[in-house]
Amino acid sequence: MSKVVIIGGSGHVGTYLVPRLVEAGNEVVNVSRGRRTAYSSNAAWNQVRSIALDREAEEQAGTFGRTIRDLKPDIVIDMICFKLDSAKHLAEALKGQVSHFLHCGTIWVHGPSVAVPTTETTPRNPFGEYGIQKAAIEAYLLDSARRDGFPATVVHPGHIVGPGWNPLNPAGHFNPQIFTVIARGAELVLPNFGLETVHHVHADDVAQVFVKAIGRWSTSVGEAFNAVSPAAVTLRGYAEAMYAWFGTKPRLRFLSWPEWKAAQASGEDATATLEHIARSPCHSIAKSERLLGYAPRYTSFEAVCEAVTWLIGEGIVEPK
Ligand SMILES: NC(=O)c1ccc[n+]([C@@H]2O[C@H](COP(=O)([O-])OP(=O)(O)OC[C@H]3O[C@@H](n4cnc5c(N)ncnc54)[C@H](OP(=O)(O)O)[C@@H]3O)[C@@H](O)[C@H]2O)c1
Repeated sequence: MSKVVIIGGSGHVGTYLVPRLVEAGNEVVNVSRGRRTAYSSNAAWNQVRSIALDREAEEQAGTFGRTIRDLKPDIVIDMICFKLDSAKHLAEALKGQVSHFLHCGTIWVHGPSVAVPTTETTPRNPFGEYGIQKAAIEAYLLDSARRDGFPATVVHPGHIVGPGWNPLNPAGHFNPQIFTVIARGAELVLPNFGLETVHHVHADDVAQVFVKAIGRWSTSVGEAFNAVSPAAVTLRGYAEAMYAWFGTKPRLRFLSWPEWKAAQASGEDATATLEHIARSPCHSIAKSERLLGYAPRYTSFEAVCEAVTWLIGEGIVEPK
């Protein structure tokens, strides 16, 4: 049995990862502010010790790393690190103290796709503060593994999907109204030719990568792994699949990016779409399959449909 401390374990991924860790026989400690609970209930949470603290406040006080180290973990999973300084602060406190350190990264360590599918060895060319910081954290952790033997592994999820929150939709943003449009057989307008890509992953498949990375310690230390579905989808293909799922005939229209952007009621939606299609992620899982035995349970479409089924049940998507 290992003692696993997960920082930010009550979110999308933790909802699935924490029960998997408990079921594998680990002693699990979840560190979060205690504001949220997992998206779905699971008796495994009865065996989890929860520690309420605010990482940002602890970091400002300079005590976060020591607090985590004093929990005496064998394994630390950091789900919520977004700044290089945060990563350094925690890693410095844990050097020589833990057998495995796993960081949740993102496929946005990459900028616009070049040769697809993008692999873990594709040079990073991130844009935007989030991706730039995540790439810097990854470089620092993997360098620490090489130079100092710090036992770090980095997992890069795609767009995380599951029942309980809005999935990235076929227009490339998060407004669930798009699914109602499709469900009713109404017209959906997409930017460009709808051929830019998005790459989802079910939260449980991300959890699977973490668990398998822990299980294959000697292979996973010092390495990064993509955690995405078996294949990215184009916006157009995604939209057509959703029309078919709802039993309606696809009604798609296409506008150039400036026209499409100007036609959006919400600047937030347009910005989210741009963030996604400007990268058009399409990532490889070959390394995760080969080295970890990753076997995703969900295609992109299956993962999204599970989330949309939940949205319908909640009355957020209204087919009729
Ligand atoms: N969402 C995506 O599609 C996506 C895609 C790629 C990568 N990622 C990566 O996934 C990671 C996030 O994982 P997730 O989506 O499973 O998490 P999440 O759903 O955003 O949940 C965040 C977790 O962290 C806790 N938390 C938030 N702020 C905190 C603070 N200041 N101090 C202590 N705990 C705090 C939350 O609980 P409390 O609120 O109770 O504190 C919760 O347990 C990030 O590293 C992100 O870059 C996400």
